[in-house]
Amino acid sequence: HALFRPIQEAAPPSPTKRRTKVSVVGTGNVGMAIAQTILTQNLVDDLALVDAKPDMLRGEMLDLQHAAAFLPHTRILASPDYSITAGSDICIITAGARQIPGETRLNLLHRNVALFKQIVPPVARHSPGALLLVVSNPVDVLTYIAWKLSGFPANRVIGSGTNLDSSRFRFLLADHLEVNAQDVQAYMVGEHGDSSVALWSSISVGGLPILSQLKGDEAAKEQEVLEKIRRAVVDSAYEVIRLKGYTSWAIGYSVASLARSLLRDQHRIHPVSLLAKGFYGIPDDREVFLSLPAQLGRGGVLGVANMQLTEEEAKRLRRSADTLWSLQYELEL
Ligand code: NAI
Ligand code: LAC
Repeated sequence: HALFRPIQEAAPPSPTKRRTKVSVVGTGNVGMAIAQTILTQNLVDDLALVDAKPDMLRGEMLDLQHAAAFLPHTRILASPDYSITAGSDICIITAGARQIPGETRLNLLHRNVALFKQIVPPVARHSPGALLLVVSNPVDVLTYIAWKLSGFPANRVIGSGTNLDSSRFRFLLADHLEVNAQDVQAYMVGEHGDSSVALWSSISVGGLPILSQLKGDEAAKEQEVLEKIRRAVVDSAYEVIRLKGYTSWAIGYSVASLARSLLRDQHRIHPVSLLAKGFYGIPDDREVFLSLPAQLGRGGVLGVANMQLTEEEAKRLRRSADTLWSLQYELEL
């Protein structure tokens, strides 16, 4: 622009690194919380937004663009046409119906499977090398659906899964133990939903395993408190939905943390929904997606953690797998 005059004999810029691009399909409560967090954390060069409501979509794009003076420079694009997502590194899918107060996530299945049949093929066509990150509920079954409809290898199809449940678990544990949630390691695994499984043996604070330090009555009392916390985690979403109508902020930060680990090849471990057949006694012919702690990087799921589960934990995990399998094996794709 005439505002600037180049230095004499300015050398042409060196070939710039390829731009990173994330697309968010579905710009409702969740999609916009994710978009806003990705922008604030300066994770991408290009952010593409897609939704079925063109005016609301354009309004969200403009509203984000108007914050440019306060944010790292990111190109924000929006269109109901999926071609806007072309060449994405990650496509995050949050489009779909959400629960009304008291409704289970599994109850959304048939409505959102129908939507995925419209959404996933164009997303996959425009970004054949992308990572798919599914958020819409029921997220585990919809991640399976996205895997089948996209034809992508399983390591590149991930559901946000119990990354969110585990952050709720860590918050409640931190509150109980009066420590910082970032110093609490604790996993919920299995279904992102009513049958999720708390891995008691995984709980540690600053590397100190919690339960093994306790003996006798103290251990029994602590177990009781932890079971209350587990139930509070499972009930969290129902409570927030009853109070504000939906959940958005925690899932926004949760998905942005996954996007960072994936885009920046962090090799960090997150409990995410992945193709779990063959792990922890889940039969090899059960193509179910559910959450297990996995190492995430630019190639998607780099590996699944080989954890020592108690027999009870493994049994609950298999029960979670059965719940999901009973729903998905009859689906027509
Ligand atoms: P919302 O109703 O605010 O947004 C959904 C958006 O999807 C709307 O803007 C709608 O226009 C759009 N949409 C619908 N059909 C579409 C299509 N064919 N193509 C493109 N866009 C389409 O709902 P909210 O609160 O954002 O929730 C979205 C989904 O995320 C729900 O399924 C909800 O259950 C799920 N969710 C999952 C969480 C998780 O931990 N996995 C946490 C919170 C919500
Ligand atoms: C949650 C639901 C909406 O916030 O999946 O956990």
